[in-house]
Amino acid sequence: MKSEIDPNLIVYFDEQYVPLREARVGILTHALHYGTGVFEGIRAHWEEVAQELYIFRCQEHYERWQHNCSYLRIRVPHTAEELTSITAELMRRNGLRTNVYVRPLAYKCAERVGVSTDDQDAFAIIALPFGEYLHSENGVHAGVSSWRRIEDNAIPARAKICGAYANSALASDEVRQCGFDEAILINENGQVAEGATCNLFMVRKGKLITPSITENVLEGITRDSIIELAQKELGLHIVERPIDRSELYVCDELFLTGTAVGIAPVTHVDHRPVGGGVVGVITDRLRHVYFEAAHGHLIAYRKWLLPVYGERRPAERVAGKTMETSVA
Ligand SMILES: Cc1ncc(COP(=O)(O)O)c(C=O)c1O
Repeated sequence: MKSEIDPNLIVYFDEQYVPLREARVGILTHALHYGTGVFEGIRAHWEEVAQELYIFRCQEHYERWQHNCSYLRIRVPHTAEELTSITAELMRRNGLRTNVYVRPLAYKCAERVGVSTDDQDAFAIIALPFGEYLHSENGVHAGVSSWRRIEDNAIPARAKICGAYANSALASDEVRQCGFDEAILINENGQVAEGATCNLFMVRKGKLITPSITENVLEGITRDSIIELAQKELGLHIVERPIDRSELYVCDELFLTGTAVGIAPVTHVDHRPVGGGVVGVITDRLRHVYFEAAHGHLIAYRKWLLPVYGERRPAERVAGKTMETSVA
C-alpha cells in the first residue's frame, strides 16, 4: 500500500532532525523480529482562534513511556522535559498547524538473530498531521472479540509494548471482518478489560464505571483525564471495578477513551443498542468538556497543555472575548 505520509516530513531519528525518507532501520533489527519496542501516542490539538497548537499532557506521556521502556530495559537518554522540547521543536520545524498525532518509539536496535536482549537501544519521534481515528461523532458499533486480553504475567498490558499489539491487531481484525468498528476485549478472568486501542467506561444508574488498572488494561492518560473531568466538572461518582460482559448489554451508556480515538460513544455492542442506541447525555457532556479542555478553552486545565508556538495570542484575549466555557 502506498504511504500517504510526506517523505519530507521532518522526524527525530538517531538524535537528529531528518526527513522521514532518511529514517530507516535494517531488516535484522531486533524489535522488528521480536516486538521489543515500546511506543507512545500523544495528541496536539490546533486551536483556530488562538492560532495555537496545544500538546496534551506531553510530559506525562513521556514519563509513562520511560516507565514502560524499563520493562524491556530500553534506555531513552533524555528526560521527559527534554523529549517534550524535541516534540514541540518537531512541530515547529514541520510548521504543523492542524491536529497532530505524535508517535515516539524506543526499540532494541541490534541487527542480529537471537531473542535475548542487549543494551543496544534507539528511539525516534514522529509528529504527523492526524484527523479522526474512529469516525465516532454519532457513535460506534463495538463487538466483543473472542481473543482474550493479554495477562500481566505474559506481557504487561499497562505498557505499550510493540509485541503486545499483536493481541490488539487480532481482536481488531476479527471484529472489523464481522462489520464492527472497534473491538472490546475480555481478560482471562472473563471480565471486560478495554478496547483494542482504548479504555472503556460504562454509565449505570448515573455512576461512571471503568475497570481498574489491575484488570489488564493500559493505564490511559485520557482515562485519567476523563475521571478528573467527570468528578470536577460533572460531579459524577466514579467506580473502578470489574465489569461483566452482560453489563455491556444493559448499561445506560458506554464509551471508549484514548489519545487516538478521543471520546468515542458506543451506541451498539454486539448488535444490541446501548441505552437508546444513540449518544448518551453524560457521554456527550464529557466529550464536550474534554474537547474544551484539550483546546485550551478551560483555564483550570491549561496545566495539561503545552503551547507549541508560544502564548503570543492567548485564546482568552483574542478580540477581547473570553474563551472560558461553561460546561455544567
Ligand atoms: C490498548 C490501549 N488501551 C488504552 C489506550 C488509551 O490510552 P491513552 O488514553 O493514554 O492514549 C490505548 C492507547 O493507545 C491503548 O493502546
